[in-house]
Amino acid sequence: MPRSLIHLHNWSQDEILEIFRDSEKLIAENLQRNDLKGQTAALIFFESSTRTRMSFETASVRLGLYPLRFDSKESTSLAKGETHLDSIKNIAAMEPKILVVRCGDEFPLEQYAQSSHIPIVNAGWGQKGHPTQALLDAWTLYREFASLKGLRVLFVGDLSHSRVVQSNIELLTKFGAELGQFAPATWSLQNSALKNFGSMKEALNWAQVVMALRVQTERHGSNEKQSSYVNEFQIRGDMLTEDQIVLHPGPVNWGVELSEDIANLSQCKILEQVSNGVYIRQTLLRKLCLDI
Ligand code: CP
Repeated sequence: MPRSLIHLHNWSQDEILEIFRDSEKLIAENLQRNDLKGQTAALIFFESSTRTRMSFETASVRLGLYPLRFDSKESTSLAKGETHLDSIKNIAAMEPKILVVRCGDEFPLEQYAQSSHIPIVNAGWGQKGHPTQALLDAWTLYREFASLKGLRVLFVGDLSHSRVVQSNIELLTKFGAELGQFAPATWSLQNSALKNFGSMKEALNWAQVVMALRVQTERHGSNEKQSSYVNEFQIRGDMLTEDQIVLHPGPVNWGVELSEDIANLSQCKILEQVSNGVYIRQTLLRKLCLDI
């Protein structure tokens, strides 16, 4: 059975550090490798994406892997009623080197990976997890602070609908980071790994890193109101000290999670996260495709 990446709990600290080191080498040495030339990577996105899909596409091209994109209901046999599982089985029968999948909670991704002869990468699975996002987030912080141990990371926003936060908790606790949350009661998590705060001021006084999470209106019920969100939970530039780092997995609702002035601050690492993501995915694709 080939190695897949569905969750991070079965990836050790050493393996993750190796991904960081190899990604750093890609930048330092501007390495061009052609050992996957002529092979294909199937990028199967049943849910919408800009960053993750194009990042995997860029990473594939840099590796010489030809990316095969499956990304819209209208242009595929999903329009004729074919199921997600049948679609994946048929694409797998074309023998790509790897299957990169974004899907809803209802899709049995982990179960499918357990019987797949092709490695699978979770590129965002409903609200369950987004491990490559957590890897690129953690690497961005690792490059900044040289260690994740004891780093105080505050999650702000819509945690309860966020797959990103699930994978970040999985990874950052493995490395001994300290984690906190500041969110509306209906969007916060019951998780003993997270410290809670009474006010934004108290939360920001504690945090070295602020990770804002998108308000996911598409996953909200009709009784979830956001009218007071901006007043109580928006992060503005004047609330931050110069050495506090701001992350957001994107897409950002500017003027909701973050005020627009944040984009111009040197401590805002949002586009750096995106750039770093390509190197992380390049490293991961090569590792899984070549079983190294
Ligand atoms: N961060 C992230 O998953 O963004 P996309 O939904 O655009 O891929």
